[in-house]
Amino acid sequence: MKNFKGKVAVVTGAGSGMGRDLALQLAGKGALVAISDVNPAGLEETERLLKSKGAQVHSQLLNVAEREAVLEYADTVAEHFGKVNLVINNAGIAHHGEVEITEFKQYERVMDIDYWGVVNGTKAFLPYLIASGDGHVVNTSSLFGILAMPGQSAYNAAKFAVRGFTESLYQEMKIAGHPVQVTCVHPGGIKTAIARNATVSDGHDQRTTAELFDKKLARTTSARAAEIIISAIEKNRPRVLVGADAKVIDLLVRAGGSMYEVVIAKFAGRLAPKPETVIQHPSELL
Ligand SMILES: NC(=O)c1ccc[n+]([C@@H]2O[C@H](COP(=O)([O-])OP(=O)(O)OC[C@H]3O[C@@H](n4cnc5c(N)ncnc54)[C@H](O)[C@@H]3O)[C@@H](O)[C@H]2O)c1
Repeated sequence: MKNFKGKVAVVTGAGSGMGRDLALQLAGKGALVAISDVNPAGLEETERLLKSKGAQVHSQLLNVAEREAVLEYADTVAEHFGKVNLVINNAGIAHHGEVEITEFKQYERVMDIDYWGVVNGTKAFLPYLIASGDGHVVNTSSLFGILAMPGQSAYNAAKFAVRGFTESLYQEMKIAGHPVQVTCVHPGGIKTAIARNATVSDGHDQRTTAELFDKKLARTTSARAAEIIISAIEKNRPRVLVGADAKVIDLLVRAGGSMYEVVIAKFAGRLAPKPETVIQHPSELL
């Protein structure tokens, strides 16, 4: 997609962070934008910012985990603008907690939003993207869709799944000859509200985990991340690594294979806070 002028771009999770910056920058390049989020206040603020720049915007509260609602939403957006060219399945949440102490329903919540939200959005919009003749699916995975970290099993599982789903979709679109490009996004640490909005398993302190992320790990601004993602869309890149941290770690993982697991297991324990909870029987984590 070389030019966004007059193109219809859908961004989920547009009420904050990268979703908001993506919507603003796409509108700045002449796109008509459909924004959605589960958080009404954040969504209203993005809508206000877009309208103050004269953008054409469709705004709707949407939980990406609710499949029926996402399917209906795709029809609504297509009817509103007459077509859909680009969907960015960006909405996501984080959760911190070791396997031994994480509740089954915490895994399900992360998978429902971070993985199923992406599948729902992709499948709902795909027929419209194909019909547009110039379509693009952008799915947000993570650096944690490339390497696993202790305490991130829920998030890692969802983001590795997004990567597998998206890379398979890329190949299918080429084989079928559909006019749809596919990009999988792997951001490193980006300065957004993700860690402040995250949940933690019992025994972890949410604030300490968020502070560690905000002060030590988030290096790239959300606006810069959006620029990098948009540039990757313009270049039809199948994969985009966002931030120097993502680029370096991707190289290390590829060069060292599974050795990274050994290295992280040795050193990460010193950095990450340990849970205070006594390990529970799995039946208590239902
Ligand atoms: N910030 C980072 O360092 C980082 C790194 C890698 C990947 N990511 C991914 O980037 C994406 C955007 O995150 P961000 O960093 O901008 O965080 P953010 O918290 O600032 O924004 C995420 C947005 O998604 C919305 N959202 C959450 N659950 C939703 C649901 N069920 N339905 C609809 N909207 C929902 C939130 O309300 C919020 O507005 C996420 O998928 C995240 O996992 C972020």
